[in-house]
Amino acid sequence: MKGEDETVVSPRPRLSLSWDDGHILAVDQRALPHEYRLLRIETVEQLTDAITSLAVRGAPAIGLAGALGVALSACRNSSGSGVDEAAVRADAARLSAARPTAVNLAWAVRRALTRLAGGPEAVLAEAMAMVEEDVTVNRAAVVRAADLVQSLVPDRPVRVLTHCNTGRLATAAVGTALGAIIELRERGRIAEVLVDETRPLLQGARLTAWELGEAGVPYRLCVDSAAAAAMARGMVDCVLAGADRIAANGDVANKIGTYGLAVAAARHGIPFVIVAPESSWDRELADGSGIVVEERDPGEVTGFAGVEAAPAGAAVFNPAFDVTPAELVTAIVSEVRVFRPHGSHGTSRPREVSA
Ligand code: MRU
Repeated sequence: MKGEDETVVSPRPRLSLSWDDGHILAVDQRALPHEYRLLRIETVEQLTDAITSLAVRGAPAIGLAGALGVALSACRNSSGSGVDEAAVRADAARLSAARPTAVNLAWAVRRALTRLAGGPEAVLAEAMAMVEEDVTVNRAAVVRAADLVQSLVPDRPVRVLTHCNTGRLATAAVGTALGAIIELRERGRIAEVLVDETRPLLQGARLTAWELGEAGVPYRLCVDSAAAAAMARGMVDCVLAGADRIAANGDVANKIGTYGLAVAAARHGIPFVIVAPESSWDRELADGSGIVVEERDPGEVTGFAGVEAAPAGAAVFNPAFDVTPAELVTAIVSEVRVFRPHGSHGTSRPREVSA
């Protein structure tokens, strides 16, 4: 990444993203699990690069980064005569476009921009409020999700399968689906977590396995293509995943591979539960057909960490996300409700329960 400082830190900060003396501090998720280091981000260009290279990744985290980026831009584009609004809005547009699928990014950038008239301090105060809000919102969602999982699997500690990384790293602090797994563990309700490695960038193998290890949660890593076999063998009681964008009908965009998990879970009558904040909902989209799915660099598929695996010039299909139809989703849990899509599998309970 161009130009930013990297700092190896100990002890670890409470938040995966924060503001420090005119800079953004962010955990560099590319370096984990081998090294825990912070990026010190000084420009919008560096931040955009951090988001596109997945140094900062996960829908809530990129949203918060976007909001902090608007604050960074407002600070850099202020002078005695006030804020150069046009320059900040141009930076905001670049940040919003860095990744197209997670609705949190554009939502958070828009929200930060609403405070532009108040100057850089007001924008920064809003961004910092969003960071703290993310902690409380996700805390409420993980408690609600853990309650739901306990009600779905009441008789024994749960064997969960999860995909991608939805933990502290993907949010300000608590996580979503992975936060619920850790909450269940704290209640003594987790038997084991099966962690999909999550090809091609291994968010499961690198990040989720690392977070579970840190939290002392028993897990086994499996290749993505072992997930359906694990369900068929009766090794999975519940699938828990996150979301990048949820359409009004409950169709869910999430990391590529999520749709396949939902199909397999429905085949085996296994609850398939999404945990995501309300900010992941895009109510302007009636269903998931309008969700833009990011296509990423072919090099992510043809090799890994500089080692080529495919023949030179191999053509590649590399969507970063897929869309799971609502009817395959048992429930979508947020900080305020449990949404049960109409006709969803694995339940005959009412459509929506606000508890
Ligand atoms: O490409 P990534 O690693 O940003 O994809 C992340 C996911 O798909 C997560 O499941 C989603 O953002 C939810 S994170 C709480």
